[in-house]
Amino acid sequence: MKQASKTDKEVWVKMKKKAMRVLDQNTFTVASEGRTYRMITPTKEYYAHKWNWDSATVAMGLVSVDYKRAHDEILSLIAGQWENGLIAQITFNPKERKYFPGPQFWGTKTFRRGEIITSGISQPPFLGYSAWYVYKKTPNKKVAKKFLMEILPALKKYHAYLKKFRDPEDCGLLTMIHPWESGLDNSPRWDTILERIDLASIPVEVKILVNTYRADDTFGNTVERPHLADYYRYMYLIDLFQKMEWDYKKIVQTSPFAVKGLVFNSLWCISNEALSELCKEVGQLEEAKLYKKLALQTRQALKESWSEKDDLFLDYNVSQGKNEPIVENSIATFLPLLAKAASQKQYLSLFKRLTDPSQYWTAWPIPTVSLTNPKFESARYWRGPTWPITNFFILTGLQHYQDDPEHEGFWGILVRKTMQMITQYGFCEYFVPTEEDIKRLGRGGLGFTSLSWTAALYLYLLEEYRSIAHPHL
Ligand code: GLC
Repeated sequence: MKQASKTDKEVWVKMKKKAMRVLDQNTFTVASEGRTYRMITPTKEYYAHKWNWDSATVAMGLVSVDYKRAHDEILSLIAGQWENGLIAQITFNPKERKYFPGPQFWGTKTFRRGEIITSGISQPPFLGYSAWYVYKKTPNKKVAKKFLMEILPALKKYHAYLKKFRDPEDCGLLTMIHPWESGLDNSPRWDTILERIDLASIPVEVKILVNTYRADDTFGNTVERPHLADYYRYMYLIDLFQKMEWDYKKIVQTSPFAVKGLVFNSLWCISNEALSELCKEVGQLEEAKLYKKLALQTRQALKESWSEKDDLFLDYNVSQGKNEPIVENSIATFLPLLAKAASQKQYLSLFKRLTDPSQYWTAWPIPTVSLTNPKFESARYWRGPTWPITNFFILTGLQHYQDDPEHEGFWGILVRKTMQMITQYGFCEYFVPTEEDIKRLGRGGLGFTSLSWTAALYLYLLEEYRSIAHPHL
């Protein structure tokens, strides 16, 4: 293993400082029920509130630098938990107006906890895994236990909500009800389902709302953001759910968008495993078994989502009683590696795909859609660009499959590439994967420029992989 040089160390020190500056700048506070919560927004440039899986990621990056802030990040996420257990996609900052759709567009006020209003949908369940990592990395064990005791009931309640409402058929796979729940909001995997929502059937008030208030394309760059028709459909779904008064039983059964997704469920699997470990820490052995069982059930269901014909893992469209595979060569196919759901043979095939320069092994891997997919777009979000969060999932997943000596350490190359990419282009939201597109566009970093989870993932990679993170390789 190559030793880090003096210059590497200088780069790391500089980058670490810069990453902390991003996190500091993105911090805000919200007062509720006599307590003041410190929260971190994805970026004050636009998102300005608190996002569920961003926060889970941010906590993991922060814990090795300032564990108290990592704890705050998780505590302030569960502070807005609904009575039914939902931990929402967005926890709103009452002082902010920038982002659309803000708190007034969700009809969720009646579900608020204290002063905290949230959106009504969720995001990939990464929180359990993050809580486990943060607990494990907290240096003071007494403080760690106290933190765990405080968050554990909320984590259990959240998992109970997901299991009850999102997997009513008990098949092991949770159902998402909105593309924004997928985290990969604008992925081409959702195109066919969304196209089936006839634009003519969308109430005119919904379209007016979008036309009047949509802001991501004015704060951000239009060519990198979703199309207007997509936004009409996103808001149409929210309008529908509001009209159903956020009755998830009804919503899951009737929503025109209902998908059992690979990213969502791979994270569900590892978060249940994590929750099982956390229960063991406090001697709750029966519950530990229960979460382990849930993880195994999901792993099995993910295994069954492999398509021999397509040589891919597939998401399933389960809207309104359907059960259709969604065939799309995208980054989602690699996520079951994280959940240890791929067989050795499937892993070898995925590895070949991943390291193929004509598909995923680009100058800055891993693009969110294969270059060979006609839907690949180098700059539009989730339809091609590289995201540090998905790189993190895959490099972590690859470590479960190191039997083949030829592949050993490959994840280390991905760590280095991810850190180099951030060093070169800054703490951007996403990145252009190919050199020729970087030349054509004149830049490598895309989206907003001071993203908390990009900064946090840099800190995480630095902490976990310091010895291999040689920036010049
Ligand atoms: C975008 C991403 C989503 C992320 C959010 C905040 O909506 O698609 O995954 O959580 O931004 O960073």
